[in-house]
Amino acid sequence: MDKLVIRGGRQLSGSINASGSKNSSLPIIAATLLAGKGSFTLHNIPDLRDITTFTQLLNHLGSETTFSDNTLIVSSRNVQSLQAPYELVKKMRASIYVLGPLLARFGHARVSLPGGCAFGPRPIDLHLMAMEKLGATITIETGFIDASIKGGKLQGAHIDFPVSSVGATGNALMAAVLAEGKTTISNAAAEPEIETLCRFLTAMGATIRGTGTTELEIDGKESLNAIEFQNVFDRIEAGTLLAAAAITGGEITINGVEPEQMKAVLKKFIHAGCTVTTTSNSITLKSPDKLLPTDVTAKPYPSFPTDMQAQWIALMTQAEGTSHIIDKVYHERFNHIPELNRLGAHIEIRKNQAIVHGPQHLSGTKVMSTDLRASASLVLAGLVAQGTTEVLRVYHLDRGYEKIEMKLKSLGADIRREKYNEF
Ligand code: UD1
Repeated sequence: MDKLVIRGGRQLSGSINASGSKNSSLPIIAATLLAGKGSFTLHNIPDLRDITTFTQLLNHLGSETTFSDNTLIVSSRNVQSLQAPYELVKKMRASIYVLGPLLARFGHARVSLPGGCAFGPRPIDLHLMAMEKLGATITIETGFIDASIKGGKLQGAHIDFPVSSVGATGNALMAAVLAEGKTTISNAAAEPEIETLCRFLTAMGATIRGTGTTELEIDGKESLNAIEFQNVFDRIEAGTLLAAAAITGGEITINGVEPEQMKAVLKKFIHAGCTVTTTSNSITLKSPDKLLPTDVTAKPYPSFPTDMQAQWIALMTQAEGTSHIIDKVYHERFNHIPELNRLGAHIEIRKNQAIVHGPQHLSGTKVMSTDLRASASLVLAGLVAQGTTEVLRVYHLDRGYEKIEMKLKSLGADIRREKYNEF
């Protein structure tokens, strides 16, 4: 296994390019299943474990893929299997994204039930509800979701989500674009990743009104075309790098971003005392002498994202006072806290709230990654901790951060990757 070895105390400085977004790559790769002809060229796809897993899933279904230099070429002309097996789904819950497109194009799909998750229950009831509204019959047996359509084609319908869900909105969209007639989606997720999916489907020939809002209207089409597409930047990677600069008292510029998509996060950095300047495609963050305590409540977009909550807690360990962090998307997403406390942080969990008492002097030790963003928070803590921090089980981090240690190193961090045996 790999670990990251970090010697803390270096201020980060310099500039860096943002990578392509993982969370928008996954649904657009799934959406290639909708086209029965041609081949897609997808640019700015990050080289990550989750992308490898997802292309393996498409290959299993019969799609042909080639990936090099962040460009993925996909042809889903010859899909032969309509079954997503447990071995691949268990590696990544986002595999559920194949349900909508397979069902819409072929009238049938079997997807293994995703298992639990490190930060609490993550149900898929809303994905299934959306498919049923569109006319699918769903049965669950022997660990598989079996979805089929009696009349051969999905039928447009009104889908009203009781909870805002990125994944369920994506699946509903990918099914509705090939359904007969009009579909309306209320309380749709408005995350930039869904906006990107809407733009992608529209470029394929779909008609979608309300892109970027929580009310979407889709006119179903007979067929859709393969296209060339430029993926957007990863707003969570960008936020994590800004937090790395802020926690080390540094100053960095990230290029290739759309600051508009990061308003809620940038506002919190400013509240914490950082100086943030933006251009149309870059963000520069300069740290203050002293970070100010800053409360955060993670909620669906355009609020502060749950995927930045763990990193914010790490940052607030260095603020001059107490901060309160609440996660309204995943109430139990606090696995990083015991590990941050092992580094010397003083963070309490009361009900669904993390109370971070700063500033605390952190000192390096071995810590264990438990999930993707929890791992990022441990790396941030390691950058400021005295001595050496070893972040074990880096494979979690590799799911979502492209060449993270190389990026941090180029900004001045003392960080390296090493192999180790866990037992
Ligand atoms: C996506 C992101 C993940 C991010 C999350 C919230 C991807 C691949 N992953 O995950 O990084 O943390 O959005 O921004 O894009 N829910 C239900 N029933 C469902 C589906 C969801 O109750 O069928 C609930 C969840 O438990 C959660 C909330 O809805 O409380 C939001 O989850 P959702 O937006 O669906 O997350 P994902 O799409 O899985």
